[in-house]
Amino acid sequence: MSVNEINDKIREAAKVAAQYHTDNVGAPAATRLEWPVAVSVNKGLEGAIACETKIGYVDGVNGRLVYRGHDSFELSEHSNFEETSYLLLYGKMPNAAEYKAFDEKLKGYRKLPHEIYDALKLGAVKTAHPMTSLYITTGMLGALDQKSEDVSWQNQEEIAIRLISRISTLVGEIARLRKGLEPVEPDLSLGHAANLVYMMTGSKPDEATTKLMDIALILHADHGMNASTFTAMVANSSLSDMYSSVVAGITSLKGSLHGGANEKVLYDLEEIGTPDKAEEWFKKAREEKRKVMGFGHRVYKAYDPRARIFGPLVEFMARRNPEINNLYSIAKKLDAIICEQFGKEKKIFPNVDFYSGLIYRGMGIETAMFTPIFAASRISGWTARILEYLKENRLFRPRAVYTGETKAEYIPIDKR
Ligand code: ACO
Repeated sequence: MSVNEINDKIREAAKVAAQYHTDNVGAPAATRLEWPVAVSVNKGLEGAIACETKIGYVDGVNGRLVYRGHDSFELSEHSNFEETSYLLLYGKMPNAAEYKAFDEKLKGYRKLPHEIYDALKLGAVKTAHPMTSLYITTGMLGALDQKSEDVSWQNQEEIAIRLISRISTLVGEIARLRKGLEPVEPDLSLGHAANLVYMMTGSKPDEATTKLMDIALILHADHGMNASTFTAMVANSSLSDMYSSVVAGITSLKGSLHGGANEKVLYDLEEIGTPDKAEEWFKKAREEKRKVMGFGHRVYKAYDPRARIFGPLVEFMARRNPEINNLYSIAKKLDAIICEQFGKEKKIFPNVDFYSGLIYRGMGIETAMFTPIFAASRISGWTARILEYLKENRLFRPRAVYTGETKAEYIPIDKR
């Protein structure tokens, strides 16, 4: 077939399409859209409803967060990450036997395939931002799983549990390798939160530190149709596999308008230096129209309940750690200034990312690892919502209002 013949075929197809267009003039508006269309578009899909869910609810007016009907304050007090993950996945609290079986499964998956260590030691993986290292190695977990392409619900459910377990191990190993330390085997005698702290810091945490990490993992586990959850669900709605969809979630969480804010908050607090400089720093940020990291939220127009829990816990930590004490004093000052100046007028309050990093810093964890810890928790929400949607899957496919030219003519390059 010559190029001329190929072009003849294209012209013939264009004629058929033009005829179809003419024949279709009487079609109802829903099937025949003429651009531009008159619709109101909320930037960033604000207020758009993507699906129904029974997993979790964010009451932005009253500052309340609920997983499967359970209030986040209640879960923080009584639950742990394993139990909360079960709740998100299966819609009910596990009984003792169910908890034991789930916990054993998580522990059984904790160790990583040995090939992952080779990847983690590669220069670029070791020196990249840890969120980049995390999505590379999460993708590798998929590559190493011979059944990753089986997108049946049962297989994806099993992968979900494996990922809930292994993302934490990956985070622990990434933290160690970044510091030039040898990888450490996960400790199967420890609970999920304690093992994460152990792997990241090299020492087994006491009861209070374990509880603090459990609270952090519980509070970050799910949060409505946030950007990373939606991204992961969109990826999975094309019947991509769980690993690929989780990689998509990690890439979205990385950004500073979302999970990446917890890292940036610490840099801001360090830049401010002392509490007496907070006012001046904020004035300058306003003049420069800079977003203050850890403040504001698309859904919460009240104080984020997660920040309500983290704030006083940082205070508790600050009492035994002078570095945290100074950073906490700066944070408290900034919190008060912004709530006073922006709270009433713009409904801008601290969000989850404002105080969480100080908890991790108090545990001796490197700032760049804060967002990976977020991922080690949000994996439960991502997978629970992916599995819920997969039961009655339909491809996510919104439209955009086209505002460009519609009748542009192709002019050969020598005539332009
Ligand atoms: N600092 C200063 N001003 C802010 C902030 C902030 N942190 N957040 C919102 N505003 C202002 C905006 O400048 C804008 O003001 P204007 O109407 O005068 O132009 C108004 O509030 C609305 O802001 P948007 O960015 O349109 O609100 P949106 O709902 O799109 O954004 C977001 C929510 C992205 C979280 C925003 O508040 C923000 O950028 N915060 C800082 C980053 C951050 O902390 N992200 C973590 C969020 S929680 C999470 O994802 C885990």
